Amino acid sequence: MSTKGSILVTGAAGQLGAVGRSVTGLLLDRGLPVRAMVRRDDDRAAALRAAGAEVVVGDLLEPADVYRVVNGCKRVYFGMSVSAEYLEATVLMAAVAREVGVDALVNMSQMTVSQMSIQNTTPSPQQRQHWLSEQALAWSGLPVVTIRPTVFLDGFFLRFVAPTVRDRGRIELPFGQGKTSPVAAADVARVVAAVLAEPAPHLGRIYELTGPRSQDMHGVAREYSDALNREITFSDILHEDWARELRKAGLPEHVTRHLVTMAELHRAGRYDRLSDGVERVTGQPPMSIREFVSVHADEFGGRRS
Ligand SMILES: NC(=O)c1ccc[n+]([C@@H]2O[C@H](COP(=O)([O-])OP(=O)(O)OC[C@H]3O[C@@H](n4cnc5c(N)ncnc54)[C@H](OP(=O)(O)O)[C@@H]3O)[C@@H](O)[C@H]2O)c1
Repeated sequence: MSTKGSILVTGAAGQLGAVGRSVTGLLLDRGLPVRAMVRRDDDRAAALRAAGAEVVVGDLLEPADVYRVVNGCKRVYFGMSVSAEYLEATVLMAAVAREVGVDALVNMSQMTVSQMSIQNTTPSPQQRQHWLSEQALAWSGLPVVTIRPTVFLDGFFLRFVAPTVRDRGRIELPFGQGKTSPVAAADVARVVAAVLAEPAPHLGRIYELTGPRSQDMHGVAREYSDALNREITFSDILHEDWARELRKAGLPEHVTRHLVTMAELHRAGRYDRLSDGVERVTGQPPMSIREFVSVHADEFGGRRS
């Protein structure tokens, strides 16, 4: 089927936050034609196809693949998993989008970029690449919309803490007294889908996205307790121990250094931030931690009746 005028969604299979997968579903719900780019034709690709997307297989680091998937699309969501080649993939996407000509390029970035400059950077190679990627896209002259979410609820607050909440009723993270305002990837996807559906009023804008409240980890634990109807506490653990465990888990060094930096910045109070971006773009407030934990109660060991 020819899909001239489709919306391209990269990273559509989805892993950690699965923003691309959710965006694909939201755009299809609106009746818009979606070209969903995946790396492999697996079960996730089949599910996207069954939902009504045109699935294309390709590598975001391969120029011919990127040209093939962008060609024929008028709008693009660009996002992919945290990886060492992120900057290269962004610049390649920009080069192709300039060649093909698109009406809007929605770029996934990070809210920490708002605190960065030539003089103020962070040790995270991913955050450095997002900062540089934003610079390159600005130079490109493309019609860009920049999405800068704070930490996702789906990573640290679900995947990392589900086992200890389940087994010991404790959130164990090296965040100290730092406050944080995590946002659900589902809310980030709602923002991206709203922008892609009608990009004109958003072109050139930067949207910072947080959850509805910035609070310390004891406050976060209280929201877990309310959602699960049992006492969940916060235990501040040694940063070095946590980083060692992460390295033992065998994640790529790029990802580990990024996560370690995020934890350090939390401890330093740098994730104490609040923005109304989700509500401003979608008209609906972002999900609270309590709501998010309720939705995922089974993964945390269930809600006590
Ligand atoms: N997690 C957070 O706390 C957080 C906070 C703020 C911003 N962000 C940003 O959000 C983005 C990640 O979003 P997400 O969690 O929704 O992504 P994700 O689901 O982890 O990844 C999306 C997809 O990217 C695909 N991909 C990776 N390398 C590729 C390549 N070379 N070619 C084609 N596809 C490739 C992966 O395919 P496979 O599944 O086949 O590997 C994956 O399915 C990053 O930009 C990150 O910096 C994250």
